[in-house]
Amino acid sequence: MIVRRSDIWSCIVRRMEEINTTSPADITSSVIESFDRCEDPRLRQIMQSLAGHIHAFVTEVELTEEEWRAAIATLTDTGHITDDKRQEWILWSDTLGVSMLVDALRHRLPEGATESTVLGPFFVPGSPLREYGDHLDEMPAGEAAWVYGRVLSLDGTPLAGAELDVWQNGDNELYAVQDPDAPEFHLRGRFRTDAEGRYGFVAVRPTAYPIPHDGPVGKMLQGTGRHPWRPAHIHMIVRAPGHRSLTTHIFDSSSEYLDSDAVFAVKPSLLRDFVARGADDPERPEGIEGSWYALESDFVLVPGEGGEPDDPGRTA
Ligand code: BEZ
Ligand code: FE
Repeated sequence: MIVRRSDIWSCIVRRMEEINTTSPADITSSVIESFDRCEDPRLRQIMQSLAGHIHAFVTEVELTEEEWRAAIATLTDTGHITDDKRQEWILWSDTLGVSMLVDALRHRLPEGATESTVLGPFFVPGSPLREYGDHLDEMPAGEAAWVYGRVLSLDGTPLAGAELDVWQNGDNELYAVQDPDAPEFHLRGRFRTDAEGRYGFVAVRPTAYPIPHDGPVGKMLQGTGRHPWRPAHIHMIVRAPGHRSLTTHIFDSSSEYLDSDAVFAVKPSLLRDFVARGADDPERPEGIEGSWYALESDFVLVPGEGGEPDDPGRTA
């Protein structure tokens, strides 16, 4: 007797219908299809892609029930530790590189523009306006650093009246918002450029510091052999009329952890040298005693809409 292939195939299909099993792929398809009627096309795209990627991940690693329960417990702990001062969800985003990826996708800059990097959790709006040459520190916080340079438009035109909103940590590794002993405006301030686009202020040489690591993100770092340290840096948001605001850092080019920043925020173009200067240097700025450092950094902004940066909240 000759058995045709089509007969065998119909037999298999009939058998599958009888057994009526639901495969992992069927589950994934049902979830993706469940968003088909979502009227907002962007929300539909995001939810369908999210469901597809989560299902692909679970399938690829063959997640066990025990692992799934551990993941739920971690998410629960993340919710519990988060409040208006501590934002553990953002720390997840930072330490998984999602904050940097969103920034890179949303702020594609033309060649020559200063690169952006993460805002971080310690930005506090409303820093005081300070004068050219003023100090950022309001109590002893480390070795003095004269930070100076120009703010320029992409074509090289100096931008007068641009604003640098600056914040940094001191040699105790803390930002003022983390330090109950620090005055409110310690190590932060806003500076305006002069007619030639020049700015200058006295900061302290920043130290490397660990991100908050006493919660679920710290457990993840510890459990995966990662460390919580960030290389030494100074934060700034640079704003100028008719230009896109720039959220960035300048990194100490000799800092530890430049090649393993816990939040993946280092970009080579943002490294700067702190140049050691002696106490007898005739250029020593007012109010500095002993030896000091000089750090030069220009910022190049892209013409376009300005606007305030979003403050996503604090992680500590
Ligand atoms: C910061 O540089 O201030 C920072 C950025 C991301 C996470 C924690 C701290
Ligand atoms: Fe920082």
